[in-house]
Amino acid sequence: MKPRVFGFSRAVLRWYRAHGRHGLPWQRDRDPYRIWVSEIMLQQTQVVTVIPYYERFILRFPDIARLARAPIDAVLDYWTGLGYYARARNLHQAARVIQHDYGGVFPDTFEAVIALPGIGRSSAGAILSFAYHRRHPVLDGNVRRVLARYFAILGDPGQVATQEALWGRLSEVLPKTGVRAADFNQAMMDLGALLCTRVRPRCAKCPLARGCEGYASGTPERLPLRQHRRPRPARQLTMLILVDPANRVLLERRPAKGIWGGLWSFPECPMGVDPKARCREIFGVASRPLAPLPSIRHGFTHFTLTIHPQLLRISRSAGARIGGDSLDWMASGVAPRRGLATPVKRLLKQLDSVL
Ligand code: ADE
Repeated sequence: MKPRVFGFSRAVLRWYRAHGRHGLPWQRDRDPYRIWVSEIMLQQTQVVTVIPYYERFILRFPDIARLARAPIDAVLDYWTGLGYYARARNLHQAARVIQHDYGGVFPDTFEAVIALPGIGRSSAGAILSFAYHRRHPVLDGNVRRVLARYFAILGDPGQVATQEALWGRLSEVLPKTGVRAADFNQAMMDLGALLCTRVRPRCAKCPLARGCEGYASGTPERLPLRQHRRPRPARQLTMLILVDPANRVLLERRPAKGIWGGLWSFPECPMGVDPKARCREIFGVASRPLAPLPSIRHGFTHFTLTIHPQLLRISRSAGARIGGDSLDWMASGVAPRRGLATPVKRLLKQLDSVL
């Protein structure tokens, strides 16, 4: 069977009008700033997860100027829990570039948009398509899945040739006008998210089933081929939670580069090193270990991390000797108002009931 290009977009658009996602918070108007924020949040994150973060973010940073002026700590605070914090740092950086180089007006050419930090080919296409109705394709994970199945694209998704085959097919089916292309882009993402799902696709409801090679094969879920992934290595570490007599805990800002870059966390202690000795080594003060808290696990793209939290009581005078630009004592039970690494947020919640 030869998959059909003719009629593809018509079928997708008809389905979208009846079954697509309309009225999402970033679809209320065509403000490029809002669309940009939503597209960055939606990279690697599902719509239902993004919505509350998006609403809070837009209330706090309603336009480019407000985002550009904000301290990075405030931006990371509003991003805590969404993960992939480089997205937030790039967003903030790009807002400053737009403010400085474009007088605060979101640019409307592909070259200018893709040159901004954190915006790739697909996101640039999405923003220009949704905000300005420019005719650009969008190829995110959902769209990739629909196309790989429909056209039986068998290559390794990590290969450039496979990516180019997908972009090529997409340009064949993209509607010719910008307005229809915008609906088509959203429709394809919705189709991938709602029907053409990774497991158990709902082919019986799919407007493309008739021409779909994946469907004809009987095993559409085998496509796209999985990128060859190694099992994620497991890492462990101890986090030192220093507690002073006022029940304040010591937070440390992490370096800008690396995991949780720029976020606040607890000082770390490698496995096999005595937490008390480590506390003395880093801060030069004595401490008294309390009963350990339960370990928590956190998954990253490239490894899983098991964190063993260790509470250490320190005296008032010892506490007074600990200080520095990247260190801060935080009262327990108050809103942190800063970017916290997700497990740290969880640990702080637990501490409320322990301290
Ligand atoms: N993923 C990336 N952009 C999206 C959008 N506009 N709607 C749904 N999922 C998306």
